[in-house]
Amino acid sequence: MTKITKICCIGAGYVGGPTMTVIAKKCPHIKVTVVDLNEERIAAWNDPDTNNIPVFEPGLSEVVAEARGRNLFFSTAVDEAIDEADMVFISVNTPTKTYGAGIGQAADLKWIELCARQIARVSKTDKIVVEKSTLPVRTASAIKDILTHTGSGCKFQILSNPEFLAEGTAIEDLNAPDRVLIGGDSTEEGKEAMQALVDIYANWVPRERILTTNIWSSELSKLTANAFLAQRVSSINSLSELCEKTEADISEVSRAIGTDSRIGPKFLKASVGFGGSCFQKDILNLVYIARSYGLQEVADYWEQVIIINDHQKKRFANEIIRTSYNTVNGKKIAFLGWAFKKDTNDTRESAAIYVADHLLFEQAKITVYDPKVQESQVYGDLDYLRSRDPQENRFGVKVTSDPYEACKDAHAIAILTEWDEFKTYDWQRIYDNMLKPANVFDGRNLLDVEKLKAIGFQVKSIGTA
Ligand SMILES: NC(=O)c1ccc[n+]([C@@H]2O[C@H](COP(=O)([O-])OP(=O)(O)OC[C@H]3O[C@@H](n4cnc5c(N)ncnc54)[C@H](O)[C@@H]3O)[C@@H](O)[C@H]2O)c1
Repeated sequence: MTKITKICCIGAGYVGGPTMTVIAKKCPHIKVTVVDLNEERIAAWNDPDTNNIPVFEPGLSEVVAEARGRNLFFSTAVDEAIDEADMVFISVNTPTKTYGAGIGQAADLKWIELCARQIARVSKTDKIVVEKSTLPVRTASAIKDILTHTGSGCKFQILSNPEFLAEGTAIEDLNAPDRVLIGGDSTEEGKEAMQALVDIYANWVPRERILTTNIWSSELSKLTANAFLAQRVSSINSLSELCEKTEADISEVSRAIGTDSRIGPKFLKASVGFGGSCFQKDILNLVYIARSYGLQEVADYWEQVIIINDHQKKRFANEIIRTSYNTVNGKKIAFLGWAFKKDTNDTRESAAIYVADHLLFEQAKITVYDPKVQESQVYGDLDYLRSRDPQENRFGVKVTSDPYEACKDAHAIAILTEWDEFKTYDWQRIYDNMLKPANVFDGRNLLDVEKLKAIGFQVKSIGTA
């Protein structure tokens, strides 16, 4: 039986960091080393003040404080950590390709291949290699190919163990996952490798929640799970537009259908659109894979989820313009929220970025407040789009650490993230300091509409007439 005593995880990002922290906490007998090429990121993970770690997740800094230096280590010494480990997790980024074949759709597997080559190069003992990153179905065969041609004589088993945590609730999700999925080969060695990983999770996850499958099912299940989740958001968002035309109320429709046990209540909240690093990337990847097998109808079906999401962001921005007498030129629009969802500092693919971009084309002046996102991140996100010169982004957008300052003298307020603190603000004070009519565009259906209307605000929510 393979007994794991040392784990290495390549990639200290939003998945590698929290996932390994929880494994280290639950398995004090295993040494867990998380490595990354990004020196700044590793230095932040090692910051003596755990409030400064690079990933904000409720409860994470406390667990890092408990396990770091005991059996949890963050390091840039990638080769050493791989070499000493019995099990190596690959948790590096797999973004959408920005060049060449499959541009804008396929997953860029450059970093995955680099990891496989590095593991092949430095390993002096047999290892189990675990795909933690989200990967196109059949990636394991490429990794295996690279690892079996090393000539070192070392044996490698490849497992797929996709991560289902949601940012914002990562620690909760890791402590009590709905399920853990492990895919591997059906050979004796494959089964033994799967068992070794099952044994790690079994330290805290009930055995019946640890599912084992063949490796291709495991790889494809992760893309499928994200596609289904995003599809629910786009489904409800598509109907929010119909509600606005018909005086139906999307929150009432959501409640009515969500109480059907076959449908269930989760992921039925209408909003300005989904964001995050995964949903769009994974669906595009699914679309690309389907097309590459000639499955045109399958590809078109899933692509529609993205089309509706883009439409929802654009229509939110257009509503702000329309209500502002068809021009936002020179008008101050306050953005409350920039992160793609509450309780995270992650802004990747956040709806706020695209709404801001649209309004900047119309010469709006935007002021952003987000409790966890830094000014440099906001500018970085806008510059990344390459819609205009970086100086123009800095001219059009200001970032402040005071929400009242953000809203002062604004023509309109747009809620882009569902941070709880927005509900607790002194909205009378905000109203008094705004230009009139004072418009609030609630892209998250977060605020108490009746209360705001009583103060004097004009409020536009998603999915109500
Ligand atoms: N973010 C999520 O909520 C989430 C959830 C489930 C799955 N995933 C998947 O997990 C994977 C990682 O996502 P993430 O959000 O943690 O990404 P991330 O960008 O936050 O982190 C990836 C890290 O890997 C490092 N890296 C890249 N190549 C490296 C190499 N050769 N050696 C050492 N370090 C290297 C990068 O420097 C970066 O710090 C992706 O495939 C993603 O789709 C993400």
